[in-house]
Amino acid sequence: MSDPYTDVQLIDKKGLRLDGRKLDELRPIKIEVGVLKRADGSCYLEWGENKVIVGVYGPREVHPRHMQNPMRGIVQARYNMVSFSVSERKRPGPDRRSTEISKLLPEALEHVVLTDRFPRTTVDVYIEVVQASAGTRCAGLTAASVALADAGIPMRDLIASVASGKIGGKLVLDLGQAEDTYGQADVPFAMVGRTGEVVLLQMDGHLTIEEFETLLEMNRKAALEVYEIQKAALKDRYSSFTEEGEAEPDAPEEEKKDEKKEKKSSPPPKADKEPKEPKEPKESKEPKEPKEPKEPKEPKEPKEPKESKEPKEVKEPKAKDEKAPVPEEMVEEATPEKDDKGPAPAGGDE
Ligand code: CDP
Repeated sequence: MSDPYTDVQLIDKKGLRLDGRKLDELRPIKIEVGVLKRADGSCYLEWGENKVIVGVYGPREVHPRHMQNPMRGIVQARYNMVSFSVSERKRPGPDRRSTEISKLLPEALEHVVLTDRFPRTTVDVYIEVVQASAGTRCAGLTAASVALADAGIPMRDLIASVASGKIGGKLVLDLGQAEDTYGQADVPFAMVGRTGEVVLLQMDGHLTIEEFETLLEMNRKAALEVYEIQKAALKDRYSSFTEEGEAEPDAPEEEKKDEKKEKKSSPPPKADKEPKEPKEPKESKEPKEPKEPKEPKEPKEPKEPKESKEPKEVKEPKAKDEKAPVPEEMVEEATPEKDDKGPAPAGGDE
């Protein structure tokens, strides 16, 4: 079936499209989370022949300062197609199209980002399209949502985005490059995965109301598929993260203590929970043993950056007096404190 506006046949006699898809079939989608080491959050997404990389930075202070909102943070985005992303070299830098998309996407993202949690700051989302093949704003928004989650930005849900349109008189899902170029209409769409709230809706071309409503429904259904792929990608990322031992926030305290003993290089997540422990042992042990304070200092040495967490270290030594040879300096410092409060935190000269 040829398109009435062109001689290009976009749907064959079997009702299949140029790439062999059915009318309501998505292109293959692949999402990888955490691909950029220096970004706070990142995502690489392949959607058909589209290839998009997103890096998220923040929350960080807003510049210029007059843009700061004392009540909430802001989400900013830059959508960019690199020069080699399209068949004809694209001139580098912003143009009207990228400016439009750079405005639309953060407006959609602000519906799910809990901006009141980080007032006066900004979260910056950089969307780089390295290979374009129609539907890049939807691909960029889908990837941006995942990258924000990867950055640990507080959100109430993910946003899933997809486009549908009309080609050769038929309504189809997820237009490809030729379909976008030679088709009759294009309807980019995005919604909040769980609630179905629509956060992006555009239309390019001509449709009847019935056709538009049909495409909306088609988009909704497909967005749920995209949503599942996003969640699966995040689960993959963080399940492996835990297995590798990089994320241990949920590890039992006993395990953490054992790890500390073995490795004084200290994994970061443990530090958050340790500070509480030192208080218990202090009371019972302070009066009994004059040399208890010596031990607390041992753990301090390996973990210079964690000054505030020194109290953690105190506990271990008490329970295990055998291990730590204590420097004399530390003994002297700690001794006076024993009288009243037991071993002091490393920074506690006062
Ligand atoms: O990419 P999306 O469908 O969100 O936006 P569009 O403006 O409808 O562009 C459709 C496609 O046209 C893009 O995905 C690119 O593949 C292509 N395009 C291009 O070849 N050169 C440009 N300067 C802009 C877009």
